[in-house]
Amino acid sequence: MSEGQMRAAWFSETGPPEVIRSGFLPVPVPGPRQVLVRVEAAALNPIDTYIRAGAVRFPLPTPYIPGCDLAGSVVAAGPQCELQVGDRVWGSNQGLFGRQGTFSEFCAVDQQWLYPLPDSVSAKQAAAGALVGITAHLGLFLHAGLQAGETVFVNGGSGGVGSAVVQLAKAAGAQVITTAGSPEKARLCRQSGADHVILYRAENIDQRLPEIVSQTGPIHVWFETLRMPALDRCIPQMAMRGRIIFMAGRDSRPEFPLGPFYVRDLRAIGFAMFNASAEEQRQAATELNSMLADGRFRPAVGAEFSIADAAQAHLLQEQKTIRNESSIHGKILILPGMI
Ligand SMILES: NC(=O)c1ccc[n+]([C@@H]2O[C@H](COP(=O)([O-])OP(=O)(O)OC[C@H]3O[C@@H](n4cnc5c(N)ncnc54)[C@H](OP(=O)(O)O)[C@@H]3O)[C@@H](O)[C@H]2O)c1
Repeated sequence: MSEGQMRAAWFSETGPPEVIRSGFLPVPVPGPRQVLVRVEAAALNPIDTYIRAGAVRFPLPTPYIPGCDLAGSVVAAGPQCELQVGDRVWGSNQGLFGRQGTFSEFCAVDQQWLYPLPDSVSAKQAAAGALVGITAHLGLFLHAGLQAGETVFVNGGSGGVGSAVVQLAKAAGAQVITTAGSPEKARLCRQSGADHVILYRAENIDQRLPEIVSQTGPIHVWFETLRMPALDRCIPQMAMRGRIIFMAGRDSRPEFPLGPFYVRDLRAIGFAMFNASAEEQRQAATELNSMLADGRFRPAVGAEFSIADAAQAHLLQEQKTIRNESSIHGKILILPGMI
């Protein structure tokens, strides 16, 4: 490697995982309100694969470095930054809206997207919990207004977003019902705080869910993390004035049972985390930080890859989220220090 170069993964045209290449690119120069972060850990999210495949269109710099999430330490700071060299930080929201992503040794990040990394929290854990934790927090609190004592149903509680929703809802004093694909994942959901877990492959959800709801009382917040919701299953189990959160499934056109929806005074709320303002995301991150520090939020790591193996990491994310073919539990990380 020559002076001023860094290891990075990138692509210049969208397509299958193989379009991702790796090698050396110039170290970016931070702008006045940016810091240069030495990336210790970056995490993969489904949106990275949609952008790479060309299914979600953002303006992309050429070459484009993928990745939204990162954690590491500040090695240089622009003149208008409060962050200082040596500060440990984490953040998300990179690789979007024309910004470069995080799958590189160094990343120039506007300081509005960075949060202090508590001493007791590892860079791997912070990166693993970044986008999914902010998403879960925005959905439960900004959008659904979750209150202590309410009942939350999370469809997909062993997934990246789902397991964050389970942990945050439990910590907020909610009763939590969720679904998992195997007894082992059900055990992990219970460990995260789920009170009831339905094995969606082995059990009949339409039978089990009403049985559980007869014990917990009706559902106040339904957090749907699947791309195709079963609204005929969901709506009859909702409490009056319950809130249904949709945050996945750009191509979904589900049937909508309007009658049972409006007679319960229900609300359907859609959101994408990257639409939230920097201030809204910071509020979520500040609470996540205290939960990371005291162990109420423990993001799991499922697999670790080097920058050179970023294409393999993308393939695994697609197998997990799009094809539901992977049994891994926890986030997929890229570790720039792994050669
Ligand atoms: N709107 C936003 O801001 C936002 C933010 C983040 C993510 N998303 C979207 O949200 C979705 C989830 O993301 P993620 O990162 O959590 O993905 P993920 O980690 O791959 O989790 C998906 C989970 O869905 C579960 N699942 C699959 N089929 C199921 C079924 N039939 N019934 C119940 N559960 C099932 C799987 O559980 P098992 O492993 O137990 O089988 C898997 O863990 C993606 O579509 C993503 O694009 C949106």
